[in-house]
Amino acid sequence: MSRIAYVNGRYLPHAGAAVHIEDRGYQFADGVYEVCEVRDGALIDEERHLARLWRSLRELAIRAPMGEGALKLVLRETIRRNRVRDGIVYLQVTRGVARRDHYFPAPDTAPALVVTARSADRAKVNAAAEAGVKVITVPENRWPRVDIKTIGLLPNVLVKQQAKEAGAREAWYVDADGRVTEGGSTNAWIVTGEGVIVTRPAESGILRGVTRATVLEAAQKLQMRVEERAFTVEEAKAAKEAFNTAATAIVTPVVAIDGSPVGDGRPGPVALELRRRFHEFAARAAG
Ligand code: PDD
Repeated sequence: MSRIAYVNGRYLPHAGAAVHIEDRGYQFADGVYEVCEVRDGALIDEERHLARLWRSLRELAIRAPMGEGALKLVLRETIRRNRVRDGIVYLQVTRGVARRDHYFPAPDTAPALVVTARSADRAKVNAAAEAGVKVITVPENRWPRVDIKTIGLLPNVLVKQQAKEAGAREAWYVDADGRVTEGGSTNAWIVTGEGVIVTRPAESGILRGVTRATVLEAAQKLQMRVEERAFTVEEAKAAKEAFNTAATAIVTPVVAIDGSPVGDGRPGPVALELRRRFHEFAARAAG
């Protein structure tokens, strides 16, 4: 079955779908995005993803491409046309198409919206995630506004590739104080020797992950002990468990950091339980 993409008001065959060469996303990375999980045909945590999208747009003074109701319809229609049961939907909004000039274009320039959806094999994804992943650590080198989910992901691309070349899946950024901020495309967590789940506060240095918020709530409801505080690489290496969260990863156990095994070097029970039970706590939007 051929894939379909939504591009500025039209549903087009994915293979030939294109935006203008002077789209500001293409020239300046002047745009924002969201990735939302689709499970059994339903969007997971859609409200939180859309709330973050509106915030990202506001922070960058990019106009919303359409209202929330219309956007929800486009997301559903893109999922339906691609027959996605399990997978992801990706949406991107840029400041639109205008002659290349750093200043914002005229206020009546229409923002550009692209939506794609793709299927994933749930069993395969689960098997891979449950085996655990390795991470490397890298110096934080991104701009301070990582709270905005911009499409300017070059630093993330470079460290993810560095991780891949080192035989790892993810790179954890480490700030000037030696504390982990987050992964190249995930939030970072540890479980201490005392069984306390620790993740960095969302106030600085990280993207306020939607999966992170749901996992925090899930852990609290499951009567697990949780602390929002920064942790160092040393503490992470000595931790009982570590894991990553993202819409694309749900909860993925981390089994090694810079080549040192975490705990016994196998996925930990807390991470696996949070992964297994995540969808009991996530909000499922009707299709
Ligand atoms: N990445 N931190 C960064 C830098 C991210 O790029 C992401 C998500 C997260 C987790 O956020 P959430 O739980 O809302 O997905 C944290 C997406 C999935 C991506 O770029 O593909």
